Amino acid sequence: MEGGRGGKRWRFATPNLAVAAAGERSIQRYLLQLHACLDEHGPRPVIPLSHGDPSSSACFRTAPEAEEAVAAAVRSGDYNGYSSPATSLPARRAVAEYLSCDLPYKLCTDDIFLTSGGTQAIEIVMSVFGQPGANILLPKPGYPKHEAHAVFHRMEVRLYDLVPERGWEINVEAVEALADENTVAIVITNPNNPCGNVYTYEHLSKVGMMAVQCWVTPYFLLFVPISMELMCRILT
Ligand SMILES: Cc1ncc(COP(=O)(O)O)c(C=O)c1O
Repeated sequence: MEGGRGGKRWRFATPNLAVAAAGERSIQRYLLQLHACLDEHGPRPVIPLSHGDPSSSACFRTAPEAEEAVAAAVRSGDYNGYSSPATSLPARRAVAEYLSCDLPYKLCTDDIFLTSGGTQAIEIVMSVFGQPGANILLPKPGYPKHEAHAVFHRMEVRLYDLVPERGWEINVEAVEALADENTVAIVITNPNNPCGNVYTYEHLSKVGMMAVQCWVTPYFLLFVPISMELMCRILT
């Protein structure tokens, strides 16, 4: 500590301007400003169209069977420590079996990585891809954390357009034009946040084929579990 009161101040790292700029573009910022102008107790009811977490809705409550399974696991005392490849094995095996249902081949436990939410997955994946000179393709509009983590790991971000007139499909030609030999990955968010659309199997196939044909190292990142199922089929 140096400078400041008493001649000392904390030596934090210089702010990363690219990360700060990615955060500035977050929709949360604008929502907070809007909410600050609302009178929740006024005569007009407030309809929460920007509510991202559906769990407050009765129809999205966790099934009692799932709640009971979690409670039983906690009560058993077998899973109350740090997770390890050994303790997560039954969960990874269950996910592999579930996703293999419709596949012409079987996934194994080593194909499955479990993370604490999507944010941890983003962080891990970006740290794996991040290398000097690498670029990554992200959707526009997109989820701000993708960009923040990509720039934090020193990757160049290239934004590809989603086309509103075509149900927010990926502009495949634009992706093709953006990608080069330093492109390490394309992020596809499906179901999409913030647009809310779900890509058809045909559209994802088209994107998959384009990636395989154009890139030295094609990687697909899908941050929403439902999409894993689709992508497993596409890359068969
Ligand atoms: C596309 C996308 N990626 C990542 C996340 C973050 O996931 P989590 O809240 O599980 O960390 C979200 C959450 O809404 C998301 O929509």
